[in-house]
Amino acid sequence: MTFKQDIIDALTLAYPQILTFENLASELMASQERVVQSVTELQEQNYPISTQGKDIHLAYPLLSVPAILKQLETDFIGKPVQLHARMDSTNSYAKENLTDLINGEIILAHEQTAGKGRLGRNWTSPAGASISLSLVLKSDIPFERIPLLTQLTAASLVKALDAWADVQIKWPNDIILNNKKIAGVLVETEFSGRSLNGIVIGIGINTNVDQMDIPEDLQSKATSIREEKAGETDPNKLVARFLKHFENFYVAFLGSQHTEPFLSICREQSVLIGKDYWIIDKEQKRKASIRTIDPTGGLVVTYHDTNKTEVITSSDLSIRGEHTYV
Ligand code: BTN
Repeated sequence: MTFKQDIIDALTLAYPQILTFENLASELMASQERVVQSVTELQEQNYPISTQGKDIHLAYPLLSVPAILKQLETDFIGKPVQLHARMDSTNSYAKENLTDLINGEIILAHEQTAGKGRLGRNWTSPAGASISLSLVLKSDIPFERIPLLTQLTAASLVKALDAWADVQIKWPNDIILNNKKIAGVLVETEFSGRSLNGIVIGIGINTNVDQMDIPEDLQSKATSIREEKAGETDPNKLVARFLKHFENFYVAFLGSQHTEPFLSICREQSVLIGKDYWIIDKEQKRKASIRTIDPTGGLVVTYHDTNKTEVITSSDLSIRGEHTYV
């Protein structure tokens, strides 16, 4: 991918300027024939590159390591960055290669062919139209505090996305815009016996996904930032903003055990709190009023059948409205 990624980098850094094949070839110190060949292959793989005669430009900016690094203001989160053209799943790759990856390193992919969602679901990531990111953490975090990382990540996404839209959180891991999902978080852990080798925070964001590329069964539940007309998303700016907010929350969380800075955002931006929902697990479906998120990151609910207030911590649950997703 390196030469093709060089083309993507040059077009992204130039965006929204239109380049010529001649400019591009001279910038990349390559022949025009080689540039034309690679651009054709990228277009065949559905990358949003428009060409007209000798002109070439992107329909919208694509992931690019130099473009992220230009805007990245973190000390260790997002350092280094790996960007791949196509992977089965960035989370699977990060877990398989954990020993070679360092604390804070991120893996990005333009496309995933077997992206994983929560509860064993699939996650669709079409080429160039979404952000697939996995962040590796190697800090020693007590087992019972790991679920808080999903809340910390969700709050970081809310802050990062506020440059484009006022998004909400559907506990535990969905990011919602106009009552539909635009992003999700999947936190996975790797253990050797009882010792934690590392944590992989997976994030999928539908930036420029077309409604028609959203799987049929998710059409009424999922959307993208572009479909909701929340403005054009530069994925590199979004990634850099996310990493900065994540680092701020994470350093406070590790150092002083501070959870309120991110949990307060999760409560304020919750789509669930103050409403009634069905809580569905493998065995049953129970109606509950959603109260708040407690200091452990659990969801506090009052079940209608027993009138008892309980904290839900298991993520093996789905939460649904009467006939709606949120
Ligand atoms: C969900 O909402 O169910 C979680 C979706 C998480 C998707 C991301 S995309 C990057 C990373 N790699 C994966 O295979 N999954 C996560």
